Amino acid sequence: MLKITLESNVRPAVRRLRLNNGCGIFFVESLKSLTSTASIVPSSRFLTSALLRPIDFGAARVILELGIGTGPVTMELLRRMRPDAMLYGIEINPVFVDHMRERVDDARFVPILGGAERLGTILKQKGIGCVDAIVSSLGLTSMGHDQRCSIVQQAALHLHREGVLTQYQYLHAKGQPNWSCALGLKRFHEEFFLRQYFRQVLSEHVLWNLPPAAVYTCRP
Ligand SMILES: C[S@@+](CC[C@H](N)C(=O)[O-])C[C@H]1O[C@@H](n2cnc3c(N)ncnc32)[C@H](O)[C@@H]1O
Repeated sequence: MLKITLESNVRPAVRRLRLNNGCGIFFVESLKSLTSTASIVPSSRFLTSALLRPIDFGAARVILELGIGTGPVTMELLRRMRPDAMLYGIEINPVFVDHMRERVDDARFVPILGGAERLGTILKQKGIGCVDAIVSSLGLTSMGHDQRCSIVQQAALHLHREGVLTQYQYLHAKGQPNWSCALGLKRFHEEFFLRQYFRQVLSEHVLWNLPPAAVYTCRP
């Protein structure tokens, strides 16, 4: 009964938020599952810019985004992409996928509802072997070991030899697990982890984001 009352009160509000920019809806979804959204606000333009800088937009024809959320990275990708390039965006949260379907009117963008764990199968279904660039906003820190291994292994496998993958991690989660984990704060040596799958991993700090982040640029 309580659930019905809450839902009938919340739904119109969520619908209104969806019509505005994505911040409100992102915040609402983060309250439902912070482990999955990994943040309470979308990425800043500074973080977005650092994630996209390594991509050669003059050459990239197929780009894959993992975890599109409410789309700050997606919109900038579409702004920079060639007119004949395609962007496939995999997102596990149906609310975000609906939001992006409503928000984006661009034939180059294909939002896909699903888990990045199925990346290989999803690309195969679309008839795609390799992609030129992968931009991942997934919260690898909060994932289980097998889950993140499976995703990153498939990403590396489906990346063109000359391609690039960018991934970010919040600075407070960087490094080896230590005593702070006992307080419920997860830590993970993401750069070391990524080095197991990529020949080159460069890192850059972006302080103008909430929270500040490290961006990893990975090349096969
Ligand atoms: C930190 S948010 C980033 C959202 C957006 N790209 C941004 O930068 O604001 C992570 C996103 O990944 C999505 N996500 C989490 N786990 C996922 C998975 N296994 N497969 C696909 N998307 C996932 C979440 O729903 C969320 O939208």
